[in-house]
Order: sequence, then structure tokens, then C-alpha cells
Amino acid sequence: MLNADRTDPALLRELIAAELLAARERTALLTGAVDDAELVAQHSPLMSPLVWDLAHIGNQEELWLLRNVGGRDPMHPEIDPLYDAFEHPRAERPRLPLLPPAEARAYAHEVRGRVLDLLAASPLEGAPLLDAGFAFGMIVQHEQQHDETMLITHQLRSGPAVLDAPPPAATGGPLPAEVLVPAGPFTMGTDTEPWALDNERPAHQVDLPAFWLDTTPVSNGAYRRFVADGGYDDPRWWTPAGWAHRMSAGLEAPLFWQRDGGQWLRRRFGHLEPVPDEEPVLHVSWYEADAYARWAGRRLPTEAEWEKAARHDPASGRSRRFPWGDEAPGPEHANLGQRHLRPAPVGAYPQGESPYGARQLIGDVWEWTSSDFTGYPGFTAWPYKEYSEVFFGPEYKVLRGGSFAVAPVACRGTFRNWDYPVRRQIFSGFRTARDAGPRTEG
Ligand code: AVJ
Ligand code: FE
Repeated sequence: MLNADRTDPALLRELIAAELLAARERTALLTGAVDDAELVAQHSPLMSPLVWDLAHIGNQEELWLLRNVGGRDPMHPEIDPLYDAFEHPRAERPRLPLLPPAEARAYAHEVRGRVLDLLAASPLEGAPLLDAGFAFGMIVQHEQQHDETMLITHQLRSGPAVLDAPPPAATGGPLPAEVLVPAGPFTMGTDTEPWALDNERPAHQVDLPAFWLDTTPVSNGAYRRFVADGGYDDPRWWTPAGWAHRMSAGLEAPLFWQRDGGQWLRRRFGHLEPVPDEEPVLHVSWYEADAYARWAGRRLPTEAEWEKAARHDPASGRSRRFPWGDEAPGPEHANLGQRHLRPAPVGAYPQGESPYGARQLIGDVWEWTSSDFTGYPGFTAWPYKEYSEVFFGPEYKVLRGGSFAVAPVACRGTFRNWDYPVRRQIFSGFRTARDAGPRTEG
């Protein structure tokens, strides 16, 4: 659907309607998998109750589409402050007078019905929010982002499994450990991706020295060797802030790992299972990723390095939408969309390879980069500064690529995610890099 002709308003309306429906089906699955008591419960102070996400999805859709695009009056102005993410931190949300589950569902459903009427009558042009259906695209991505957030809440909840999905097929053969990205400029960010969010804009040239990048994300097997080598007990590998955090939080292994005699087990959506060596490591903080890289004699890639490796096509000199080209992600390219509730083994998805030969840059695990989250040169907050701009600064690190929990519509080579360097309940992994001197090329 994402490959459809977006210049024909009838086709664009169809595409938007299909994306709205796909997001809502995922929301319904995630909120329908547990009973009402679990919907209103707080499964972790890091997360909202699921019923908050549900009504917040409806509230943002009402705000942006019915009020800002459609010019309608607020449906229930008294509930707006409850669902404003900046008014109440997540830990406080269970104690708010939230809409109970049946009312939250009815509200989101009512908003959606009116949005579909608005869409059917919309020219999808003639105003910045409407051009190329941008506000609809933003709202589709917003719901899908919360569907990833709700999947994180599911991972944090205790109790037996309520979600299931088949494992990804293991594909791919032996690969070189790293790929060379030669020195030179490339185009970072975008001016043309219709539903790109403000922090992905504008396109700009970045000139980089040559570097080597891991062909795949770092695996559990490789990470286990860091753990077994005493990596968590040696301050040499950690930044001072990382070491202080490792000590105060008592970190010894990725989140959800537990020792069982001589082996490691992990808890994954209610299943306790051996940690699979061949999968990318998951649920590590930036501090752990950074320490592993130093232990391995390497470093995290910068955000610009990650994007060049993922998008630059040396044959044409232009940047692609995705590592494999401009075509929307299909199941042959990447592990996306919660089709599998785990990453695929490292080396999977040969058809998703980038021109430089790197794999799994999109899908499987979010990849920590060494970079702080900032605006690109010429950045303008749009349509609201609370999406990105208020988070710019040294407290947040950038993650790239998207996890198995990200919807295809909410990920692309330019997409930027960010979080605190201590966070690891997110579906985070990483790959490492090293400088390539001019003489080590080839
Ligand atoms: C882009 C994932 C950091 O969840 O805080 C959802 C996305 N923004 N609602 C977040 C978002 C507003 C955002 N991240
Ligand atoms: Fe939100």
C-alpha cells in the first residue's frame, strides 16, 4: 500500500483508510488480550496503564484530525488534560480519573468514525497539514508508536503469556563480520518523504571519513561473552556515568535475563526460555551498548554513520528510503510490524541488505547510536514542538532502524527515535563501528 501513487487523492484516501484500520486492529489486539483489571493496572512505573494509551490514541486523533484539520469543537474538553502526555508523568497516570475501558474504547471508536467521514470528504491538499495527507499520516504513525509502547507494557507485565506469534524463519549464510563504508559525503534526512516527521528534516549533506560497521546487530552469543569476561565488573569499559548507573542499578546482564545454573534464560512475553545465541541482543541500555563496544575494541556508530550505511547508494550517489531501495518494506525485507514477537537471527533478510552489504538495519532491534538527539541544520518544529524539539539536548541518545514491534508505516531510513541512556525496557540493541584509516581500505 505504501508504494501506491500518492498524487491521486482517491488512492491516497484508500491508503490512509487502510493504514488507520491496520493501526486500530493492532491496538484492539493489544488491548483485547488482557481483562479490564489488567487494562487499568500499572504493570511498571515506566509505563502508562494500557487504558491510558487507548484513550490517548483517540484523543490525539480527535485533536489533530477532527479539531485542527476539520475545525470541529472538542467532544469532551474535560478529558483533554488527562491524556496530555506533558501534564502527568507515566507513573502518576493510574491514579487519574481515566475513562474506564468500555468508555475509552467507545471514545476512540466514535472519533474514528468521524475521522473516516472527514477523510472521505477531504481534498488532501490546500493546507500544510493536509498536503499529501500529512496529518492523517502523522496520526497513523502516532497510533503505531503507541502500539509499540503497549507491546513494551506487555513485555513488562508478569503472568502467563497472552500474546503469541510464530518465530521468524532463519535465513542467511556466513557473512563478513563488518562492512566498509568509504569516505565521502551523503544526503542525511529528507525533504521529500511525505510523512517524515519534523526531526527527519531538512535534507543536508554530511561528509564522513571512512569507517567499518558490523554487518549485523551484535548477537546474544557475542554479548554473553562480554558478560562472561567480567564486562559488568570492569569500570574500564564504562563511561563514568555508565559505571555509576551500573553500580546503583545493580546491572549484571540485559533486562529480562536470569541465570539458571550454567546457562542464561530470558523472559519474553510470558515465556521463560534459553537466551538464543543467534538473535540480536535485546533490552540493553545505551550505557551497556557503549561498554560492550569498548570491551570489543570498537565504538558505537554515530547517527550519521548509521544513516549513510543504511541509505547511501554509491552507484547513484543518492540516498534511498530504505536499505534495499525505495520500495515499502515487505516481509522479505525486514522483521517489522509485530508479525514475530522477537528479532530474527543475525544475518537474516538478505533481500533487505544495504548497498554496502549491511543487514537488518531496518527491523529486528532499535540500534543505539553514539549521538545526542538534536535538530538538523535548518530544523523547524512542525506541527508541534512537543513531538521532538522539547527533547533536543544531551540527555537523550538517538536510536535508529526500528524493532520487530515497529509498523512499516512508522519506520524508514530517515526515522529517528530517542531515549534516555539508562532505558532498556524498549526493544533496543546495537551494532558497533570503528574508524578506517585511508590505508586500511579494501
Ligand atoms: C518517538 C517513541 C520517543 O513514545 O515518547 C508518542 C513517540 N510521541 N506520542 C514516545 C510519541 C508522542 C515518542 N518516541
Ligand atoms: Fe502519544
